[in-house]
Amino acid sequence: MTAALKVEDLTVHYDTREGALQALRDVSITVPEGQIVGVVGESGCGKSTLINALLQLLPENATIPAGRITLQGEDVTRANTRRLRQMRGQEISVVFQDPMTSLNPVLSIGRQMRDIQYRQPGSKAEKDRRAAAMLGRVGIPDPVGKLSAYPHELSGGMRQRVAIAMAALMRPRVLIADEPTTALDATLEVQIIELLKEIQREIGCAILFISHHLGVIAELCDRVVVMYAGVAVEEGPVADVFLRPGHPYTIKLIECDPGRLKEKVADLPSIPGSLPDLTDPPAGCIFQGRCDRATEICATPPPRVTQRPNHWAACHHSGPETR
Ligand SMILES: Nc1ncnc2c1ncn2[C@@H]1O[C@H](COP(=O)(O)OP(=O)(O)OP(=O)(O)O)[C@@H](O)[C@H]1O
Ligand SMILES: [Mg+2]
Repeated sequence: MTAALKVEDLTVHYDTREGALQALRDVSITVPEGQIVGVVGESGCGKSTLINALLQLLPENATIPAGRITLQGEDVTRANTRRLRQMRGQEISVVFQDPMTSLNPVLSIGRQMRDIQYRQPGSKAEKDRRAAAMLGRVGIPDPVGKLSAYPHELSGGMRQRVAIAMAALMRPRVLIADEPTTALDATLEVQIIELLKEIQREIGCAILFISHHLGVIAELCDRVVVMYAGVAVEEGPVADVFLRPGHPYTIKLIECDPGRLKEKVADLPSIPGSLPDLTDPPAGCIFQGRCDRATEICATPPPRVTQRPNHWAACHHSGPETR
């Protein structure tokens, strides 16, 4: 079966004054049709770079020295501008962390929802009906009345629902969600996750869900790819990775996950140390500088060690019991 989205050995560099900054190195991610795959990692690990590469919206100073991105078998990196625009409108849609990224502040919700249906048949009244039905579907009260509202008249949580409704209205094959719940409180976060699950079931799309929060990914996704400093370090079924992580980075990430803390604390725990200099990354394991298991062998590239079926970790000392 063709994957809905496939990223193969993707490498992205940014040209900087210090030299080429290696934002992604040999990253491979497969999102099968109808599945939800999560990508998790700290700030700076390359999440936004990945999304911008998928959408071919990388900034001017970015280059893709290696790799392939295919959307339902079609190479995105080779598509012309016209085809790309078509793909972004029809086959792939995005829900961003800040819903205002996809909403226009000076147009009513109804007008915007009508506009994104420009390729679909039907009169204005029909498009409004479809829009209102979708708003109702995502749990917005008085959906018909909301068509004449402007984004600023809605709360943050409601705006995110509108953004999801707009993305779903296009019935994409692939939905990309870039930290869509990060700006929301915990209760709303749960609701938005449930909503994404329902939308996925309803329109049958594949979802690539990006977050720095492993707990959220565990709630929603089938599989997860753990990223560190531009490298995929572990991948597997969520329950497996969450309960039996193989990579020391994943283990630390879980220890620091706010969802696991019993009491709310002012300062969330964080992994000691900082990301390596990506203009001059270390030879071998990318995590060695912050890893308490690191030994000499870590200066050589770690193999992908199978933890369990369909679950690997790129670590010389992987697994919970090898210390
Ligand atoms: N236009 C750019 N020019 C140079 N370096 C960049 C550029 N954009 C991003 N970077 C660098 O690339 C790396 C990956 O950045 P990216 O924004 O993809 O990370 P992220 O995982 O999305 O982080 P966050 O969680 O903070 O959004 C970082 O080291 C960042 O500083
Ligand atoms: Mg980002």
